[in-house]
Amino acid sequence: MKKSRISVIGMGFVGLSLAVVNAHANFEIIGVESNKEKLANLRRGKTDFYEPNLSKYLNESLKKNKISFTENLDEVKNTDITFITVGTPSTKDGKIDLSSLKKVISGLYKVLKNKQAKHLVVIKSTVVPTTTSTVIAPMLKKLKNVSIAVNPEFLREGSALNDLIHPHLIVIGCVDDKNCKVLETYYKQFYKTMPDIINTDYTTAEMIKYANNAFLATKISFINSIANICQKLPLVDVNTIARAIGKDPRIGSQFLQAGPGFGGSCLPKDLSALIKFTDKFHDLNSFFKAVENVNQLQTSQVIQMLKSMKLFDSKKIIAVLGLAFKKDTDDLREAVSIKLVKNLLKKRLNINVHDPMAIENFKKIFGDKVSYYTKITDCIKNAHCCIILTEWDDYKKLNPSILKKNMKELNIIDARRILDPSKFKEFNFKAIGLGPR
Ligand code: UGA
Repeated sequence: MKKSRISVIGMGFVGLSLAVVNAHANFEIIGVESNKEKLANLRRGKTDFYEPNLSKYLNESLKKNKISFTENLDEVKNTDITFITVGTPSTKDGKIDLSSLKKVISGLYKVLKNKQAKHLVVIKSTVVPTTTSTVIAPMLKKLKNVSIAVNPEFLREGSALNDLIHPHLIVIGCVDDKNCKVLETYYKQFYKTMPDIINTDYTTAEMIKYANNAFLATKISFINSIANICQKLPLVDVNTIARAIGKDPRIGSQFLQAGPGFGGSCLPKDLSALIKFTDKFHDLNSFFKAVENVNQLQTSQVIQMLKSMKLFDSKKIIAVLGLAFKKDTDDLREAVSIKLVKNLLKKRLNINVHDPMAIENFKKIFGDKVSYYTKITDCIKNAHCCIILTEWDDYKKLNPSILKKNMKELNIIDARRILDPSKFKEFNFKAIGLGPR
């Protein structure tokens, strides 16, 4: 069977990952991007963010002529399926901002009204329930050759390509089965073994995405709430509790890692959009507000630990290890590091920072207000405290002798629970969810 011709609009994180994975699987891909600088870079095989294997896949696909990039929406006409992956960020008051999406849809209307053959528009951007039926579908209603599917994405940063190649589920929301089948046929061409599929309507598909991310956020705020109680109880360690409850198949072991709170471009944004969207249903969202509230307060646990170490003094140096919102990315969106460092600077502390990937992005926010280090040992030199804020593998290898050799005072805050407390008996060692020892 002839392979579907694919276009992807919006070369952000999801769009570019989707485009290169398809090109790598020998589909002909057109990537549409309106940002000229980004476009020029992509054509030269350069990405503006780090994701494992992305650059390798991109360059291989460019060499094989499987992928091309354009700013001209017209080119979409020559494909069968268009995935829309433009950003749906939060407005200042936390609502979803649909302006980029609406602009793309009205552009597509102008392009596709001149096309005779059938065309499927797939909404991959995360949109609040009813957006497709009340905003997008009416904009394309006059085009009888065009159908729409809602196809939410569940990939994670740091493992995006792998998640696209091995998804746990495909959700397809359509108004009639025929459209669902077009997308299903494409997926059958892509996957040798078909993942599970749920076929449903537009709004249910949209709600699935929010329910999924809200549940992940809930698990994290839940374990962080337990962790904060453990901190008051002698010898109780949240990691042992997470290990135990995670064995219960009804609970599951993933997303029970206590820490400084969740960040990133998705969980905080989607939780906030869900809350704003459901505000009109009066009191039906108090649960989600609590999940968000726990997360917003979680950084203060780290600040309280520093306070108890009596380190709020302008002569003290604090080494922050890890800036990215999680490991294997250089992404700082909603990263706890930003909130924490701003707070510590207000307390006039001297801040040294290290991160294997995110230093350049951090410089764009903090300029010369903090000191940047590319080597961990330089970052902790003469520090009065070391805070581990991202779970990078390099930090897991930190041992007492390296710290003792370099630090001025032996204070550690392990906000990610990656070190073994029993190895740090000589230290003033504090960690999220580790009760007093
Ligand atoms: C999240 C979801 O996991 C994806 O399924 C979804 O597709 C994506 O959002 C999206 O909507 O696009 P991502 O933002 O890449 O993916 O990151 P996660 O791995 O979910 O981590 C989010 C935050 O939670 C990070 O700050 C991480 O450190 C934190 N986290 C995660 C914890 O604090 N504890 C855990 O046990 C797990």
